[in-house]
Amino acid sequence: MRKKIVAGNWKMNKDSIDSENLILDILKIYVESQTEMIIAPPFTNLSNAVKILKSSSIKIAAQNIHYADSGAYTGEISAKMLQSIGVENVIIGHSERRTYFNETNELIAKKVKSALENNMRVIFCFGEKIDDRSSGNQNIVVKKQITDALFNISESYWSNIVLAYEPVWAIGTGETASPQQAQEIHAYVRELIAENYSNSLSENVSILYGGSIKPNNARDIFSNQDVDGGLIGGASLNAKDFIDIFNAC
Ligand code: 13P
Repeated sequence: MRKKIVAGNWKMNKDSIDSENLILDILKIYVESQTEMIIAPPFTNLSNAVKILKSSSIKIAAQNIHYADSGAYTGEISAKMLQSIGVENVIIGHSERRTYFNETNELIAKKVKSALENNMRVIFCFGEKIDDRSSGNQNIVVKKQITDALFNISESYWSNIVLAYEPVWAIGTGETASPQQAQEIHAYVRELIAENYSNSLSENVSILYGGSIKPNNARDIFSNQDVDGGLIGGASLNAKDFIDIFNAC
């Protein structure tokens, strides 16, 4: 059975005091369940998050890495460095990084490889833009993103890959993919994985949905057969909203 996961991507929000307060607020109302919770604070708050959550089942993710382990890359952070402070998950391929930092499928592929080789679990984001959806090209775009970054990864690494379908037009816009639209893409991606690897691998990969998930729409989206949880942006910055979404999964 594949794992259900609800992850909070804090993006560039929360200074160290606000971050600690948010984690403590989450802990006050968090009740462990079969669903796994992950939070992804900014780099500056990761060490403290690791410390606070040491004896909790809540996991921590970084929001980005460089593909090299070390070197002359001013301002960058590697998977190896994150591992050394106890961060075991990383979000890679988020559309905001593709758009604002020109991350290409090739660069993203290198990051995925580095994370996996450093024993990190990857939360790999993919999704089409509004123009792709209006022209009916969503499957083509999604297939290319996944093929270029993931389909040369050997099967043994796939237990450390989680996928997150995040249609760009639904991120931070208040507009969500309908449960059917999400289900269609998730089922399509599962088919692609089955074609490239095997049915059993494909059935075991968790595929999350992300894009304007709120407490009032989470249950509908999570009730789809191929949706295994969510990657939450804005609503993960409020403890109660995030926990309500988590509890809906
Ligand atoms: P919102 O939930 O704010 O739309 O953000 C989704 C997202 O980008 C999560 O990575």
